[in-house]
Amino acid sequence: MRNKRRVPYGELGFGLGARPVHYEELLRSPSRVDWLEVLTENYLVPGGKPLHYLEQLRRDYPVVMHGVSLSIGSIDPLNLEYLAQLKDLAARIEPLWISDHLCWTGVAGRNLHDLMPLPYTEEAVAHVAARVARVQEHLGRRILLENVSSYVTYRASEMTEWDFLAEIARRADCLILLDVNNVYVSSRNHDFHPLAYLDGIPPERVQQIHLAGHENCGDYVIDTHDAPIVDPVWDLYGEAVRRFGPVPTMIERDDNIPPLAELVAELDQARRLARAAIAERLAA
Ligand SMILES: [Fe+2]
Repeated sequence: MRNKRRVPYGELGFGLGARPVHYEELLRSPSRVDWLEVLTENYLVPGGKPLHYLEQLRRDYPVVMHGVSLSIGSIDPLNLEYLAQLKDLAARIEPLWISDHLCWTGVAGRNLHDLMPLPYTEEAVAHVAARVARVQEHLGRRILLENVSSYVTYRASEMTEWDFLAEIARRADCLILLDVNNVYVSSRNHDFHPLAYLDGIPPERVQQIHLAGHENCGDYVIDTHDAPIVDPVWDLYGEAVRRFGPVPTMIERDDNIPPLAELVAELDQARRLARAAIAERLAA
């Protein structure tokens, strides 16, 4: 497949989550969107409109696949049918990479349709790392695991979330999709310092960054993806770029989706912040 897009930042640049309401505009006119992240589950049915659009978008944009169904932390067996579907879709659209979340989404065959956090224990590290290794073997490529936002913790946890994520990535030799908004949301909900989180992440494994908006409820914060990115998350993004360098960055917006131009303006803000952070990094 050909890509018309330039790659101006790091290896890839600044992307958006592809949403159906923007498909026509993305296809019709060139925009300052360097690449697209597509939600894997929307395109698993062969034929039909979603796949038709995805193949058109893929002609113009580099694409990465982002899933919500791997349930890598569950104690249920890995869903081999889902893995086969992932592999087929990847063969068809040739994504730059495939990601999912460090979470569990169900047990005993029941799907909770939510991204549930894991207990941060040595037992869970071993369990998840072994499953990631099997998934990577099956897909024939390394995957990215994303940190989820969370609202509960487990008494059984033996380590911090960042140590848990870093150790799984090291042991399974997988990559990290760092959601900066999720780091912020969880830091507010669980009262840790977000910079401690960033400091615990191995820079060489951070392959992609997510940015998004959330709802501030005072005592707690909900990861809603329905609003612009707020200043403390922008600040944390600058800190992330200072630590991890020019990592491909994208904005997730899933509700109250504004016109494409508004999201492109937010992407431009990410570009400006990243440029300043890279300059500081080089000067340091
Ligand atoms: Fe995310």
